[in-house]
Amino acid sequence: VVNRTPLIAGNWKMNLDHLQAVAFVQKLHWSLKDAKHDDGSVEVAVFPPFTDLRTVQTLIDADKIPFALGAQDLSAHDSGAYTGEISGSFLSKLDCTFVIIGHSERRQYHAETDEIVAAKVQAAIRHGISPVICVGETSDDLEKFGASAVPVGQLQIALEGVPADAEIVVAYEPVWAIGSGQAATPEQAQDVCAKLREVIADKLGPEAAERTRVLYGGSVKSSNIASFMREPDVDGALVGGASLVVDEFAAIIRYQK
Ligand code: G3P
Repeated sequence: VVNRTPLIAGNWKMNLDHLQAVAFVQKLHWSLKDAKHDDGSVEVAVFPPFTDLRTVQTLIDADKIPFALGAQDLSAHDSGAYTGEISGSFLSKLDCTFVIIGHSERRQYHAETDEIVAAKVQAAIRHGISPVICVGETSDDLEKFGASAVPVGQLQIALEGVPADAEIVVAYEPVWAIGSGQAATPEQAQDVCAKLREVIADKLGPEAAERTRVLYGGSVKSSNIASFMREPDVDGALVGGASLVVDEFAAIIRYQK
């Protein structure tokens, strides 16, 4: 029996400063009050900008809000002369459970290669943080190679040298679906997520493949979340735009109800 706790993750990208973050998290928590979202049936995680992390950590801790915290990136290095970079050790001290690695916006605007992504995955694991490894094809890739070849190749490199017992999350985000309003179909998402699970099985073994959550991301909304969650290999969602609207994100979290 497959028993993976669904993960609904909100990637805020470069939105919500630390003051706005407080109001947002409080409102979201409030609007979920009756939803029993802390009964363990769904895990909720928020990924604010770096400058919000300390504030959100303090709020979550003080008000016992059942959201996990994650960062949107980290350095491949642990410390030293890397101006502007953030170490995994800083993030683990802020109780970050997760860190997004290899988001297509990092790959595209910051020239992150598969090798850099792999080094960052190692850094996250060194510091006890679960990497949320993002993979996905552009519309060009889709035309040339089909949907799964590029994300499968990206994941193979990212998982190089990862220990079998590492707690990781994989997110399939087709680049053409991000922020476009044009989500993949549930069947497309299922097909690629199943292939990504095969990569996990191949690299880390069947037990890891069985327990690792594979998320879909790209124009997820309250109106389509349930259709993705019905697919056997889709274990949650990495949500961008819709994670910034309290009622919409709350409705996504409550997809079962
Ligand atoms: O990381 C989540 C993201 O890239 C998807 O964004 O706005 O299409 O939900 P959006």
